[in-house]
Amino acid sequence: MQDRRNGRLAGNSALITGASRGIGLAIAREFAREGADLLLVATREETLAAARQELAGFGTRIETRAADVAGSGAAAALVTAAVTAFGKLDILVNNAGVYVGKPFLEYEEADVDRTLSVNVKAPMFLMQAALAHMAPRGYGRIINLASTAGKWASRNQAVYNLSKHAVVGLTRCAALEFAQQGVTVNAICPGLVRTDMADALEQNNARAAGTTPESVHGELLRRIAQGRFLEPGECAHLAVYMASPEAAGMTGQSVLIDGGMVFV
Ligand SMILES: NC(=O)c1ccc[n+]([C@@H]2O[C@H](COP(=O)([O-])OP(=O)(O)OC[C@H]3O[C@@H](n4cnc5c(N)ncnc54)[C@H](OP(=O)(O)O)[C@@H]3O)[C@@H](O)[C@H]2O)c1
Repeated sequence: MQDRRNGRLAGNSALITGASRGIGLAIAREFAREGADLLLVATREETLAAARQELAGFGTRIETRAADVAGSGAAAALVTAAVTAFGKLDILVNNAGVYVGKPFLEYEEADVDRTLSVNVKAPMFLMQAALAHMAPRGYGRIINLASTAGKWASRNQAVYNLSKHAVVGLTRCAALEFAQQGVTVNAICPGLVRTDMADALEQNNARAAGTTPESVHGELLRRIAQGRFLEPGECAHLAVYMASPEAAGMTGQSVLIDGGMVFV
């Protein structure tokens, strides 16, 4: 087992939502490598158990909690669970997210309610619960997963874009209100990252356009200067910086990491 006491996040504890796979698991991996104790959250026990087993090798404390972040009272319960487990909470990563892709005219009320509940309402109340703990202590790092979809328009995903624009706005407002209390609040805006969600996006867009996921993939690659999807770990390295004490001067930012994507 490796000694993590000299890691960039040594002595820190973090709550990461959507940590069972994709970008959230990659962030959990890098945080553990840098010495942080973690509370991992996702909806399913079995994927969380696999994540915990994988991360145990880093030698920090890994706790898990199966919960729907959009559930009533979930935010306060999760922050309380982290504080109870570790004695404090230094870092919150609002990563859990859902994607529903449809042509604009086909969205139904249930799509809007679910997307906004998971992608906006849950981060809002998790931030509220975390900030109530962090501000009196005079230290905290909050990282929200937004998207390039929070910066510009995309076809066939208006409600997802709505939710990610909201995350960018919430990030700015929370950063402003807590700027003098040692808490920074920033967002990561990935372009296309190789995860289950990116696969779903390609399938949705293919259905909407009456074409194949392979053809959609090719079109997406043409919009990315580097000609590739990012790997989840690339977002995780940015998260480590934002979560570290060294990032004290950065707040209210929504940082693109997209391989050079163009908006068309
Ligand atoms: N992939 C991309 O290209 C991309 C680009 C820009 C932004 N993003 C954003 O980055 C974040 C992570 O995306 P990803 O691609 O890694 O997604 P993903 O592969 O679909 O994974 C989503 C994670 O969130 C969890 N989750 C989903 N709904 C939840 C809920 N209601 N409560 C608790 N956990 C929940 C999932 O676990 P369970 O299913 O086990 O619950 C899983 O761990 C999202 O906010 C997404 O919008 C992704």
